Amino acid sequence: MNDKNKVIIFDTTLRDGEQSPGFSMNIEEKLHFANQLIRLGVDVIEAGFPIASKGDFEAVRQIAEMARGVQIAGLARANNDDIDTAWEAIKNAESPRIHTFISSSDIHIEHQLKKSRAQVLEQAVRAVERAKSYTANVEFSPMDATRSDRAYLAEMVGAVIAAGAVTVNIPDTVGYTVPSEFHDIIAYLMKNVKNIEQAVIAVHCHNDLGLAVANSLAAVQAGARQIECTVNGIGERAGNTSMEEVVMAIRTRSELFGVHTTINTAQIAPTSRLLSHITGITVQPNKAIVGANAFAHESGIHQDGLLKNAMTYEIMRPEDVGITKSTLVLGKHSGRHAVVTRLADLGYQLSEEEIERFFKYFKALADVKKQIYDEDLEVLIGEAVYKIKGRYKVTNVQISTGMFSPPMTMVTVKDRYRDGAESFEVAHGNGGVDAGINAVKKVTGTNAKIDSFSLVAITGGSDALCEVTVNVSDEFEGHAISVFGNGVNIDISVAGILSFVDALNKLEYKKKMNGFKDKAAAYAQAEL
Ligand code: KIV
Ligand code: ZN
Repeated sequence: MNDKNKVIIFDTTLRDGEQSPGFSMNIEEKLHFANQLIRLGVDVIEAGFPIASKGDFEAVRQIAEMARGVQIAGLARANNDDIDTAWEAIKNAESPRIHTFISSSDIHIEHQLKKSRAQVLEQAVRAVERAKSYTANVEFSPMDATRSDRAYLAEMVGAVIAAGAVTVNIPDTVGYTVPSEFHDIIAYLMKNVKNIEQAVIAVHCHNDLGLAVANSLAAVQAGARQIECTVNGIGERAGNTSMEEVVMAIRTRSELFGVHTTINTAQIAPTSRLLSHITGITVQPNKAIVGANAFAHESGIHQDGLLKNAMTYEIMRPEDVGITKSTLVLGKHSGRHAVVTRLADLGYQLSEEEIERFFKYFKALADVKKQIYDEDLEVLIGEAVYKIKGRYKVTNVQISTGMFSPPMTMVTVKDRYRDGAESFEVAHGNGGVDAGINAVKKVTGTNAKIDSFSLVAITGGSDALCEVTVNVSDEFEGHAISVFGNGVNIDISVAGILSFVDALNKLEYKKKMNGFKDKAAAYAQAEL
């Protein structure tokens, strides 16, 4: 059924988001994340830019094969090679979409493409026709649309619709426009492109002026019915339209916008947390919707009002976005059922195998920690379910330290590339963590260097779980490579050692991928 008031949510976290510095993911992580996007209920996942690298191609291909109940888009510039490659990557999807683009602004046409407007128009039409020869589901984007001549933009939009594009996306590529202007652009196209009714008008806004969400909403008010966005607003430079903000604005102000999405908003917080876990980059505390303070009312007047009636100061409920606070504390005697129920309340729907893995971690923690809170469960999920299996596994740590004795740590590591052989080393250092990291360096022979080390206690109390995040760099074939690693344990030193080993695993993975000429073959062979 064609629902004129539905806004299609097109998620580009795995494409526009992932291509920005610090946010790169490996295939397993992309698959995990794509699964979560499906639980969230996005309509379209832009899984990547298949021609960009063999790794991108393989990730898009695997997501296309795995994902059901969602459209999978592959990005392609307006040329045959890109379009053919995108199709190859997505052709096994249940519902594949080719998204092709070329710039429409004179700035890009003259200085970057070095072509004439007529040539670019012709290329846009040819690209849509080529994509159309593979699938009816073709999206076209005139890049830098907001800095384009309006009449030329309208001509291009009309021409690509006539060529068969069923979605036309109007990107604010450099984050230049403002809400009133963007509303005008969309309204202008709605009025002046004769065949506009034959396509869905989409918008794709960048956040350089902090206006991506506002611009997207203004476009919806002018008739756009697809929003391209990313989780936590990640993306090129200042990022893209934040999925959680735009979805919750449409929901909270539904009577104003008169439209809706079909996002399962209770999955918003778990999706945001999963992305932070995978990339090692957390959102700022005051980030709308998903920041740690987004629902924390500090002021006395606000608290007073809230106690009298939540509506006084609360426009959304935390549980609407999947933030639940439980008074129920789990522990050693909690059974599997109680744990699984709590995880489901927190928005985690795990497979039997994932529950199995999770429960082992839970039991190990419950043996040493009396009370297990939601926050503990959340970090355990990251550790037990979403962490990829790497080359090295720490099987034992023994630390001896004291005020007057030099810290010494013994670390035992299993090496999956050597048939699981275990070896151990003992080392000294400035404290248990430093000694442990020196021991890991000795066992693995790595020259990797820790660039930063940060530590947080997950809950209060001296028995709190502790999470360490490290940034680690190394050299590979003359190039500097860097990754982050994280580790969770009740003991600070062990968490530090685990985080370093996690980073070493990611470095190994990167080296393995880069070391192959044909990255697709590498991905197929990688044990990770
Ligand atoms: O920002 C942009 O213009 C893009 C296009 C490829 C849609 O990301
Ligand atoms: Zn973009």
